[in-house]
Amino acid sequence: MTTESLPMTLPARYYTDPEIFRKEVERFYFGRWICGGRASLIPNPGDYFLCEIADESVIVVRGASGEVRAFYNVCRHRGSRMCTELHGSLPGRRITCPYHAWSYGLDGALLGAPHAERPGFSRADYPLHSIRTEIWEGNVFLHFGTPDQSVAEMLAPVSRKFANWHMAELRTHRRIVYSVKANWKLIVLNYNECLHCPFVHPELNPLTDYLGADNEPPDPAYIGGVMFLRNGAETMSFQGSRNGRSYLPGLTEEQHNWAAFYSIYPNLLLAPHPDYLLTHTLWPKAPNLTEIVCELHFHPDEMARPGFCADDAGGFWDLINRQDWRIVELSQAGIASRAYTPGPYTKREDLLCAFDRDVLAIDGE
Ligand code: FES
Ligand SMILES: [Fe+2]
Repeated sequence: MTTESLPMTLPARYYTDPEIFRKEVERFYFGRWICGGRASLIPNPGDYFLCEIADESVIVVRGASGEVRAFYNVCRHRGSRMCTELHGSLPGRRITCPYHAWSYGLDGALLGAPHAERPGFSRADYPLHSIRTEIWEGNVFLHFGTPDQSVAEMLAPVSRKFANWHMAELRTHRRIVYSVKANWKLIVLNYNECLHCPFVHPELNPLTDYLGADNEPPDPAYIGGVMFLRNGAETMSFQGSRNGRSYLPGLTEEQHNWAAFYSIYPNLLLAPHPDYLLTHTLWPKAPNLTEIVCELHFHPDEMARPGFCADDAGGFWDLINRQDWRIVELSQAGIASRAYTPGPYTKREDLLCAFDRDVLAIDGE
């Protein structure tokens, strides 16, 4: 009996080896567009948030005339990290280094450099190192190099598919940050299969048919599909109720019947629901550690309505998230065992196989 023709899971080193982790982060995160977070998190000039990938830190900041820029969080004097709070507003609309107080404008220009004046020194030579940004559907995307295409081009099919959600108009109601002891790829894999739902998510399983997922053929930039609601569920929440919330304006009747789950490589998990948008962003810290930001976004009119409450959806996803994080942590622990060998994927794990092939392709294997 041979298993040669079966598609198999990846060897353990892809989940445990620091060198493979470093190469993957380099190629997936520093070589592609990544999602930094929602632009609406920084509404005013001087508002900023940090994105931290492995050992790198990036400042995403709203500029004086409303544009969003990104800079390495590295001082041009002697290299110190500058911003340390994950999210905030810059005093005096300047990024000021805590070490010797060099300060930079919202466009990255060096404005103040105490005691630096001497022949040969020019402030113009030392702006912050900048990173390319693009806003897509209300999300700030970052590119550390020179992209082949814009995010808008890359994700045009996703924009078309979810045009009725008007995702850029939605506002964040709830944000939770999780620290998960698992490789970032295990979180992507887990997100893209439903076979675990009956066993891991007893509260979710009644709301959708775990075998009813309708997956798109994999695209180089994303994988995903829709899951149809069942048993009269109106959305994904406790008891499947919208709890008085309207459907998002613009959706068709047909779009009231499902939720979609898309992994946009490498780090945005995008899940349009009938009355909200659920997103996760994944931030690899180490081969076996990933930080995950989970947010729920609603229509601003709905959020302004007296009595608006989304605890049912927020609490539901917090529960589902924790169930998922627990199972991927168990998965990481098992894969790290000396006994682990690659196992066979089932027919219903095609998306996972496609993702693995992508991992191997960029690794030259
Ligand atoms: S290292 Fe930043 S001011 Fe000296
Ligand atoms: Fe799950």
